[in-house]
Amino acid sequence: MNDDSTLKLDLDLSDPGPLPEEAIEGAAALMRTGRLHRYGEYSGSEPHAALLEQEFAASVGSRYAVGFNSGGCAIFIGLKIAGVQHGDKVLVNAFNLAPVPGAINHAGGEAVLVEINDDYCIDLDDLERKAVASGAKVLLLTHMRGHIADMDAIVNLCEKHGLKLVEDCAHTMGAKWGGTFTGRFGIAGCFSTQTFKHINSGEGGLLVTDDEELAAQAILYSGSYMLYDQHESKPSQAVFDKFKGRVPNYSLRMSNLVACILRPQLREITQRGELWNRNYDWLAQRLEKIDGVSVPQRGAQEFYVASSIQFDLDGLDEAQTEQFIDACCERGVAIKWFGRAAAMGYTSLYQHWEYLSPQDLPQTRNILRNTCDMRIPLNLSEANCGTIAAIISQELRRYRHQ
Ligand SMILES: Cc1ncc(COP(=O)(O)O)c(C=O)c1O
Repeated sequence: MNDDSTLKLDLDLSDPGPLPEEAIEGAAALMRTGRLHRYGEYSGSEPHAALLEQEFAASVGSRYAVGFNSGGCAIFIGLKIAGVQHGDKVLVNAFNLAPVPGAINHAGGEAVLVEINDDYCIDLDDLERKAVASGAKVLLLTHMRGHIADMDAIVNLCEKHGLKLVEDCAHTMGAKWGGTFTGRFGIAGCFSTQTFKHINSGEGGLLVTDDEELAAQAILYSGSYMLYDQHESKPSQAVFDKFKGRVPNYSLRMSNLVACILRPQLREITQRGELWNRNYDWLAQRLEKIDGVSVPQRGAQEFYVASSIQFDLDGLDEAQTEQFIDACCERGVAIKWFGRAAAMGYTSLYQHWEYLSPQDLPQTRNILRNTCDMRIPLNLSEANCGTIAAIISQELRRYRHQ
């Protein structure tokens, strides 16, 4: 291992990289028409949003897909169409990010946090206990940082306790469990196309479902005016007739411009997944060899798309972890830490969402206390992985020698 303490990573791990030229050219052409709103009242429109929905549904094998202005809004509507009413309990894994309890709150629900296990996935025993104790009718399951729980067990548990499953697939676009795409296990799957997700439009979200009544409601909630007929991925008029006028327009539509830049990226999703997983394997193999670092094993059924990596530090106290992370960051290795006392940037802990009813999850706290998190850019090289591992190893060695 390289011992050069002046070694620095010369790569911004958070750089999303450019959009494909086809997306840039498509956006420029669309802007020349001015047709940025998804619904046209003009002839010869540019139906990118409708086409993206159709293509996205086909890519995961769902009957319907609906575009939204963010992943958080797709989840909010996922909860609304699941029937969440003011004051209803919603089960959700506690290892999560701020938009998720935010979406539950937005829908009027009350989050009931569920413990995670050492693999960063929801703890099935705690889920079952809390399903019974809370009387919740909905499970919002985030495949947090791309870690996918045993979905057969989850689906069985949901059936046993009458829970409707809404999946948050913000970190799993392109990923599967047991050969089935995430987002396809429950009544609805929600995706984000925010810049740090697997396809990037700055802001954006998609919801998939097979249920025609849920699809019609999602389209109406998204804010389709009376132009829902312009969707390609849509139920029949008879289904809309049941809901129109009864479902409010929340104006959460996806814009045509967003859809236009997403379509070429969606065509690259398989190839991107392969690159991310190659980079993940390079990194994981190196990190696993470092004394004091453990990288959790992934289940055989899990076909992940690893756009980030998580690992645990063994034997460092809180102050040492903070020092270690700061030192790595100074050397260009941007590590985030879920154990921080205060929310920072995109990273927060359930204790930081003070608007929730007080809940204590000692197992989750204990696991996240040592959990480090790093983005994996698509353009990471094998040499970069060596540099990252060398820096982490050198910085950790300082504590081993104390
Ligand atoms: C786990 C998770 N769920 C949902 C979202 C919401 O996505 P958006 O930022 O598009 O609202 C995010 C975004 O950061 C996320 O990380």
